Amino acid sequence: MAHKNKPSPKAVNPANQQEKILEDILEVVLQEARRRLLEASRDPQRPRYHFLPPPGWMNDPIPYFYDGNYHVFFQYHPGLPFWGNMHWDHAVSKDLVYWENLPIALFPERGKPDSEGCWTGSIIKRGNLFLAFYTGVYPQNQCLALSKDLIRWKKYPQNPVISYLQKPAELNETFRDPHVWQMDNQWYMLLGAGKSYLEGSPLLFASTDLLKWEYLHPLYQGPAAGDECPDFFPLGEKWVLLSSRKLTKWAVGNFKNLFFEPETFGIVDYGSFYAGKTLLDNKNRRILFGWIHEERPVEEQLRSGWSGVLSLPRLISLSPDGSLKIEPVPELTQLRRETLIKDYFELKGFTDSSGFREFEIPGGNQIEIEIILSKVSAREWGLILPGGESIIYDNESKRFMNENYRLPNNQRVNLRIFVDNSVIEVFLNGDFCKTVRHYPPLEAYSQPLRVFCRDGKIRVEKLNVWSMKSIHSHSINGAE
Ligand code: FRU
Repeated sequence: MAHKNKPSPKAVNPANQQEKILEDILEVVLQEARRRLLEASRDPQRPRYHFLPPPGWMNDPIPYFYDGNYHVFFQYHPGLPFWGNMHWDHAVSKDLVYWENLPIALFPERGKPDSEGCWTGSIIKRGNLFLAFYTGVYPQNQCLALSKDLIRWKKYPQNPVISYLQKPAELNETFRDPHVWQMDNQWYMLLGAGKSYLEGSPLLFASTDLLKWEYLHPLYQGPAAGDECPDFFPLGEKWVLLSSRKLTKWAVGNFKNLFFEPETFGIVDYGSFYAGKTLLDNKNRRILFGWIHEERPVEEQLRSGWSGVLSLPRLISLSPDGSLKIEPVPELTQLRRETLIKDYFELKGFTDSSGFREFEIPGGNQIEIEIILSKVSAREWGLILPGGESIIYDNESKRFMNENYRLPNNQRVNLRIFVDNSVIEVFLNGDFCKTVRHYPPLEAYSQPLRVFCRDGKIRVEKLNVWSMKSIHSHSINGAE
């Protein structure tokens, strides 16, 4: 007969004991992760229809399309809402609207060239293998990881494939964010680099086997490039270079004899948007994502447990004048839940008193606004959003949202504004984007939406406002 206090044979087995300890630890970790998610989801500033990873820090998306799935890898600090110890996290979507967070793809490894972080890079496919190129730190070395399914990754044992010693001496310390592509049976890599922060100098490398890389020359050197996160791709007859420093810049031009000659250049987004990079989908569409960074004090970010948001996907095309056109992807209309306003009207304003219309918007913290204007003769026109943020064009100083922007006379205005709690993404006529962060208390959204003009007229051909669905299962304000 077994003794009452005798442990069962299972419990004394050291292997079982270890398993039990691991299970207990996992349970504690999971409980903590759930607690943090719940905590973060109660934060009224947290967006509801933008993708965010589980609590922690995110930056720099790395978009990649394969077999009907939109993948976005991104820089991630698990559990901690400040930059450090970078991992690659991974999310996937079938429709560019709803996202599933997948297991972390790359971890820093002690004693390896990425021991202090796996920084930004790119993904390509060769045969039945996917290859992720990324920067291992410190110093900045280019590393490789391989996968058969984009989910489980194995690091290349002979990492790095490009050592920091291959960096030309005259450049500053930036030597990172490999962007790899294939052309004429040759592989090319572009690395973020520069003489100074103001003047980027993305460096071109070439390889036949993706393992041994030879440095060729700077692809381009000058103010149209930043020294971080290069992306380079053909669009129609032209080539486009995206790169970042302070803001993400675009340059459209020709790629001749392995040198890039920009013809037009500009800014991808004038606001809290950075490290823009693209994917090419099976409809041959170039789709851009960026990192929307926080603008509230660090203490508040620490308290909230999360930092950083993935931008809404944006469609890139060429305008007839050769500049880059950037618009929200059409899939985003799926997020519209209920039409709150559908209207059209004319407004007339005077020098000392503006003409305006006001609209009560229930749930003004989670909406999309579309407004189309014609016959714009007013010296100033704009909208004041329910949360208090103003979106104004000043025809005298030629400024839109406090940025230099010239709206040609009698030009129709097509404005899309996505308000998702603390994130506001604004798109004007496909040639101006600005992402704004604001953190008003929830009560502030009870102010009406105001459309106004001063000193002249506007015709509002269309004003549509929709409430928007939530893509997260945790929601504080009853949205689905
Ligand atoms: C841009 C950047 C990249 C770098 C990454 C590190 O935001 O500085 O150049 O790879 O962030 O997280």
